[in-house]
Amino acid sequence: MNVSGRIPREFINELLVRVDIVDLIDSHLPLKKTGANYVARCPFHTEKSPSFSVSRNKQMFHCFGCGASGNAIGFLMDFNHLDFVEAVEDLAAFIGVDVPRETATYSQQPAQKKNDLTNLYALMEQVATFYVQQLRNSCEGKKAVDYLKARGISGDCASDFMLGYAPVHWKPLLEQFDSKTLMDCGLLGSSDNGEAYGRFRGRLMFPIRNRRGRIVGFGGRVLDDSLPKYLNSPETALFSKGKEVYGLYELLEKSSKPPRILIVEGYMDVIALTQFGIHHAVAVLGTATSRDHLDLLFRFSSELVFCFDGDKAGQTAAWRVMESAFSSLKDGRQIRIMLLPPQHDPDSLIRERGLNGFTEQIQTALPLSDYFFGHFTSALNLSETEGRAQLVSEAKPYLEKLPDSVFKEMMFARLKELSGFGALDVLATTTTHSPKATPQKRPEPSGRMPLQRRTLALLIQHPELISILEQRDIVWDGLKFDGIETFRRILQVILDEKPTNTGILLEYYRNHEDERIIKLLSDLQLGIPEGGEIADFSGTLDKLVETLTKAERRRLLDKLETEGLTQQEKEQLQNLSKAK
Ligand code: UTP
Ligand code: MN
Repeated sequence: MNVSGRIPREFINELLVRVDIVDLIDSHLPLKKTGANYVARCPFHTEKSPSFSVSRNKQMFHCFGCGASGNAIGFLMDFNHLDFVEAVEDLAAFIGVDVPRETATYSQQPAQKKNDLTNLYALMEQVATFYVQQLRNSCEGKKAVDYLKARGISGDCASDFMLGYAPVHWKPLLEQFDSKTLMDCGLLGSSDNGEAYGRFRGRLMFPIRNRRGRIVGFGGRVLDDSLPKYLNSPETALFSKGKEVYGLYELLEKSSKPPRILIVEGYMDVIALTQFGIHHAVAVLGTATSRDHLDLLFRFSSELVFCFDGDKAGQTAAWRVMESAFSSLKDGRQIRIMLLPPQHDPDSLIRERGLNGFTEQIQTALPLSDYFFGHFTSALNLSETEGRAQLVSEAKPYLEKLPDSVFKEMMFARLKELSGFGALDVLATTTTHSPKATPQKRPEPSGRMPLQRRTLALLIQHPELISILEQRDIVWDGLKFDGIETFRRILQVILDEKPTNTGILLEYYRNHEDERIIKLLSDLQLGIPEGGEIADFSGTLDKLVETLTKAERRRLLDKLETEGLTQQEKEQLQNLSKAK
């Protein structure tokens, strides 16, 4: 596995020019031609009639049902659960070209740093192998083997998870490996007086692999009752516990798209479940579940089942997951909460009840919505107005955080039903969030659409129209409307980059704060007959400039009569009058 340079922007553009998104998507899911577009049933949510549409002109897909949209790269990322680089590689393969990598001089990441990372990965692999040898072949390692046996872990399972043993005497590490690299990998710590020491000593070692199979960190468990029971790698260039989950690589080896993923608390839980035939469990590493964890896991499965102890701490942890999960729930994503019988963790439960008993327990997991409302209704008396009012005031802020979706509407409907508070209907629709620059929620009849919005939407959907704008010498300085900064920012990108279609323009906005606006405007229905874009754009642009100029002139004239104008304003007024 090589850690290589950045993919040049020009190559990505060229790829998006050469690939036809219609062919690409058609090869994954058959499309039907209707009018100018191609349609299918949306692969990103469940539906009976097709609302997924692909535009050859824009080189974009868009689902009117769930709102998913994007270009060819975005499609591959979502459809095949790929990260950006993987999607670019697949897209390049689709048209049979290799992905070039920038050399050090052009790369943002210095070559040195990349070499370092390669070295770190290599060292982690070697150290893990060293730990395995220590487990299998050393006298001391025998204690660890006995421990594994006592806990009922099979040899096969131990080798699938590459379990090892870190001896009490850690100095041999220094003889075999470079101490600076050991330090960078988090395998050595340094004490207050600056002396290095081995971090893992006398511990059973669990290598933590990222989803591409590289070892990025370790967990280590003592073999007795001493503390701390578990020790994890510190944050390093390779490892961030808020981003990694234990067992994901092993899970994906078994199945790349499991119907659900079970999230448990411990290393031993993942291993025991796997040994008993549940191959879809992962563990977060002694930390709260983060947004990154959720996004990572939802890439591989649409259903996550969180497993918690039935005690108070488990309940608290479950509620915390609920809080962090809420804002990432969209249609087609399911979270369920599973509370275990008291005194059990998944490891002990599956050993006691076997695969079937454990599977039955999974069936009792509550959908997040039930868990959510149950949390409130068990604590409040809903036969009293006060209780119902409290329900609304406590539950509503959470519901408002949900992305717009059928799920959100249904959650509001349920809150309304439970509370009997009819005004929630209004709340449910007015909380719909849309970017500031484009406050209207629905595509309004084209006649009533603000001119600036129509201008920008036309440009985004037909970026070649920028040449018309370039021919006019429009002086935007001094003109004002809501969102003009965003408007000018986007205009500048189109001027500078000259994207030849919407899909390419969108690529400049991957993970950018304006990405949502671009997507929103690119899907806006403008009702322009084929070939009428140039005329429509010229007309809209003229009208926009005229309206803005007039408004600004009027403002300055009013000011002239009331409080007078500064020298600068006078000049501006003259210019505006000339422009007319
Ligand atoms: P538990 O204490 O529930 O341990 O911690 P466990 O998984 O049941 O472990 P066994 O069965 O005693 O071996 C759950 C998880 O919390 C993290 C570890 O990831 C552990 O698997 N943890 C726990 C730590 O990071 N440090 C600790 O000292 C304890
Ligand atoms: Mn346990």
